[in-house]
Amino acid sequence: MNVLITGGLGHIGSYVLKRITALKIIRKIYVVDNLSNQRFNVLFKLKNKKIKFIYGDLSKKETIKIIPKANITLHLASKTNAEESFENKKKIIKNNLGAFKNIVDYCKKYSSKLIHISSTSIYNPKKNFITELEKPNPQSPYAEIKIKEENILRKSKNIKYITLRFGTISGFSDGMRFHTVVNKFCFNSVMNIPLPIWGSALNLERPYLSLKDAYKVIIYLIKNKYFDNDVYNILSENKTLKEILKIINKYNLNTKIIYINSKISQKASFKTNKNKIESLGIKLNSKIQNDIKETLDKIKLKN
Ligand SMILES: NC(=O)c1ccc[n+]([C@@H]2O[C@H](COP(=O)([O-])OP(=O)(O)OC[C@H]3O[C@@H](n4cnc5c(N)ncnc54)[C@H](O)[C@@H]3O)[C@@H](O)[C@H]2O)c1
Repeated sequence: MNVLITGGLGHIGSYVLKRITALKIIRKIYVVDNLSNQRFNVLFKLKNKKIKFIYGDLSKKETIKIIPKANITLHLASKTNAEESFENKKKIIKNNLGAFKNIVDYCKKYSSKLIHISSTSIYNPKKNFITELEKPNPQSPYAEIKIKEENILRKSKNIKYITLRFGTISGFSDGMRFHTVVNKFCFNSVMNIPLPIWGSALNLERPYLSLKDAYKVIIYLIKNKYFDNDVYNILSENKTLKEILKIINKYNLNTKIIYINSKISQKASFKTNKNKIESLGIKLNSKIQNDIKETLDKIKLKN
């Protein structure tokens, strides 16, 4: 089979690309990215014969026209900073929703099955374990777009898809970025930069997803061609920032904190439930503490 990976040079995409070429059932992997995040280091490492790189902006219809037919599409191309999306709302809608709609058209045209990545940030924080049945209440323009995408798919005909609501990613990849919690905390701690923490957020739980578990789910879907037009929470562990800091500080790092304001509500936890995905027989049991160790080791080497 042939697979299309959009945004393949990014944090998640580069992790997937490094491993997926080993899958015998995959003949060709088309990777599309507009290098908006400047991950040239990932591009230069794309040596595998199965991979064909296409440079292009997916929010433009011309780009879609030059992508060959793929049986499965993993759509990762997106501007991904929720906090920044308040300032760049128009730009992010044009990019993310534009690229998404074009990819849906592409999937319909070629009967390509779609792995759609949404986010647990579409939920409104609350104390209990949140299942997929919880009514979304997005707290940022970034999350509002994810909900719009989910709704478009729900109403679409002639497309097989699965929506994965990913928790915040942890773990090392070649196209890694450092504006999400675990990675930023690791980087700042090693570099001795104070950690910005939103007011009351220290004791609130959030869902985190190890790259290892994210990959496990993606490979399961590809191997089993599992596309049931449904939505799944995908996470490894719910953790508080305090717990994450405690793990980092085991490595003799004297982390300092500064409190800042956030436009995203930090009043309650949103512990997320993963029973639905695990009922398919996939165990999401990677430990965030192992990702933290690996990330700290990598940063220390470069310091
Ligand atoms: N990383 C997380 O913590 C996290 C959590 C939940 C959901 N997600 C979702 O997973 C997906 C992938 O996230 P990531 O962390 O790998 O992001 P990333 O920012 O590291 O990578 C995104 C890639 O998409 C490319 N891109 C952006 N707009 C494009 C366009 N119009 N045309 C072509 N390429 C474009 C960028 O150049 C970049 O290489 C996104 O949809 C994101 O919202 C990520």
